[in-house]
Amino acid sequence: MRIDKWLSNTGFGSRKEVKQLLKSGAVTVNGDVIKDPKTKADPDKDMVLVHGEQAVYREFVYLMMNKPQGVISATEDSRHETVIDLLHLEEQVFEPFPVGRLDKDTEGLLIITNDGQLSHSLLSPKKHVPKTYFAKINGSVPELTFEKFKEGIILEDGYKTQPAKLQVIKDEREKSEILLTITEGKFHQVKRMFEAVGRKVEYLQRVQMGRLKLDESLPLGSYRELTEEELSLLSVSEDVFE
Ligand code: URA
Repeated sequence: MRIDKWLSNTGFGSRKEVKQLLKSGAVTVNGDVIKDPKTKADPDKDMVLVHGEQAVYREFVYLMMNKPQGVISATEDSRHETVIDLLHLEEQVFEPFPVGRLDKDTEGLLIITNDGQLSHSLLSPKKHVPKTYFAKINGSVPELTFEKFKEGIILEDGYKTQPAKLQVIKDEREKSEILLTITEGKFHQVKRMFEAVGRKVEYLQRVQMGRLKLDESLPLGSYRELTEEELSLLSVSEDVFE
């Protein structure tokens, strides 16, 4: 791997900043001062020091973001701010991407990583990773919604959803609050499921993925690294109806 990639992935700034750092003579590989950014080093064998301190290479980054409304779950967008734009350069150098999509107006738990394998296993329809959403809907919870969602509901395009688990938090004539757990990620799925029973989702927030819960102390638009334990909670898939 090129030494400039190693150093930027270890938190020493952009490739341009790293180039300056190398030029200043601050970097050694196995004791030799290295100035050429194209120099190759092997994370399994070589010892890289910056100002005498070891720069331990890391390949992956795993972040939990509390996504705010108004930003797009994508790496780039020509018109709108993306969740990647909200990251500091320190994390952007890892070239991370959001795991799946939340709508522009949906808030809450979003995993951002550069680990393609993890992303694939969380999104694979075969893995049935449950995702729980908190929603405010207009009106009361229609009769039989619980049973209908549990059986799988037919959306407006004819698609029958996988079984979903509905929990009612507040059931009132004007506005109700629910938690809905689904194991797939079809486009606008939660909104379309409620439309199919005659209700509109007025607010949507993802609160859980696998067994990993949104850290409610994270302000909207901010993020932090996942702990090892949280990472393991994420990969656990389980039966929603257990
Ligand atoms: N379902 C939706 O309708 N929107 C989201 O953002 C996520 C799930």
